[in-house]
Amino acid sequence: MQSRPALVVIVGTGGTIAGTSAQPERHVGYQAGVLGVDQLVAAVPALQGQALEAQTLARLDSCDMDHATWQALREAVARQLARPEVAGVVVTHGTDTLEETAYFLHRTLAAPKPVVLTAAMRPASAPSADGPQNLLDAVALARYPGARGVVAMLGGQVLGAVDLRKLHGYRVEAFSAGDAGPLALMEDGVLRSFRPWPAAPLHAADPSAGPVSAWPVVEIVTSHAGARAATLDALVAAGAAGLVIAGTGNGSVHHTLLAAAARAQGAGVRVVRASRCLQGGVVGTPAGALPSYGPLTPAQARVELMLDLLAAAPPA
Ligand code: SIN
Repeated sequence: MQSRPALVVIVGTGGTIAGTSAQPERHVGYQAGVLGVDQLVAAVPALQGQALEAQTLARLDSCDMDHATWQALREAVARQLARPEVAGVVVTHGTDTLEETAYFLHRTLAAPKPVVLTAAMRPASAPSADGPQNLLDAVALARYPGARGVVAMLGGQVLGAVDLRKLHGYRVEAFSAGDAGPLALMEDGVLRSFRPWPAAPLHAADPSAGPVSAWPVVEIVTSHAGARAATLDALVAAGAAGLVIAGTGNGSVHHTLLAAAARAQGAGVRVVRASRCLQGGVVGTPAGALPSYGPLTPAQARVELMLDLLAAAPPA
């Protein structure tokens, strides 16, 4: 019988997990994305001697994540997954836009092997940094028999790319999978699995078909007290091909934005709504309501709408 490969490739993109601070006791005011992947691995004694390869793709604070890095990351991970000797890929990333990158990869990357995103809330220089354990768990998951798909490994929880939510801006336990709950728990290197691995069909769009500059412009507008139609009108005038309105509650939209959304639709712009609530998404579409992508967060809905528009009008 052919044995399962042991090699795990770690692709670094930056984030707090690779961050350092001049004042190690402080958890804010540090610089994200300073360290390369080799340095992250060197800080975890249990990873020494393991079959690992490291590639530092970017050193971003993930608040600055961009489409070009997404494209490069998707292609880099796809290349590694295609190598027979690779068991799985770990991506180190910032926590701030983790749910967007995870969702983008989940929808556009065939992942018959595990692609495990991990991150940290405390910089690598902190006395009780959370990155080393997350990295150790992520590597273990990447070579776990039967594991597959794009998932996140954080605080011992395996969270699906669709369910992943950053709920807290400071605490170490910042992430949740909301109503869905974790896919599995990593307990002392042993996986306790609750649900099957994610296997959603890939989106029809091919993000590699053209340059990222050809990706449709999709923006997010938040509905709030005193919302102004002029904000939405200005985005249409600036060339938005799609708009996500982060509505209140179950995706409700301020009447001023609804009027502007109707104008935008008349001009050929796709408009969807999502919910600005941290959990739950949008349930149902009453007659006349703007469409939604159900449970997706506004940031995930932006990715989905961008891919929908890309599939509808691929670059020439
Ligand atoms: C980032 O998202 O790159 C900074 C914040 C973090 O990783 O926690």
